[in-house]
Amino acid sequence: MQGSLFTFEGIDFSGKSLQAKMLYDHLSAKGVPAVFFREPGSTFISEKIRAILLDRQHEKMTAPAELLLYSAARTQMVSEEILPSLETGKVVICDRFYDSTTAYQGHGREIDLDFVNRLNTFVTYATRPNLTFLIDLDPETALTRNKNNGGTLDRLEQEKAEFHHRVRDGYLALASSSDERDRFLILDGKKPIEAIHQEVLAAIKQRLDLS
Ligand code: TMP
Repeated sequence: MQGSLFTFEGIDFSGKSLQAKMLYDHLSAKGVPAVFFREPGSTFISEKIRAILLDRQHEKMTAPAELLLYSAARTQMVSEEILPSLETGKVVICDRFYDSTTAYQGHGREIDLDFVNRLNTFVTYATRPNLTFLIDLDPETALTRNKNNGGTLDRLEQEKAEFHHRVRDGYLALASSSDERDRFLILDGKKPIEAIHQEVLAAIKQRLDLS
């Protein structure tokens, strides 16, 4: 019995976490055995690593240290949560997965992409999502949303605009590459929340029997 893995990706404030949660709630309400995880985090150790990664005081953190910490948090989560869930036939929904590392550390921090890809494969034991939703949004709109919500910014969120543009462009390049485009569905993050949710459900219904 092998489950399915659905991941949500996008820049900060793109709305991906909300969409991931809405899908999880929908499946749970239908009695589908689903589990929800977020990255970095979702295990005792990974949540501790998350706190180190997002702490604004850690302005001295180097790009390689950042890459390795995200990777450490991920491999712990894959071993403790994702693989056991998939092995017992569950639908796994993940708010971010290794594509975040490709976009943020590969494109954003400009670390060698071949190395990032190899590290991603190593720490996930080559686990690949069945489908990845990329909620695409321009960084200016995303930042306005946060300001309107009165939110404070964590270490990554407070990066310069150019960084967020590289991340967004990196996501789009990845999601339209010949190797990966079959795995991705790019959704317009400017659409209303419910409209995006319906597009997510339509794609999920093609892959799961939800009757
Ligand atoms: P979140 O706000 O979606 O929970 O993600 C936390 C931050 O970590 C967000 O700014 C994106 C960043 N991030 C990376 O830079 N690389 C990664 O591999 C992951 C999973 C997240």
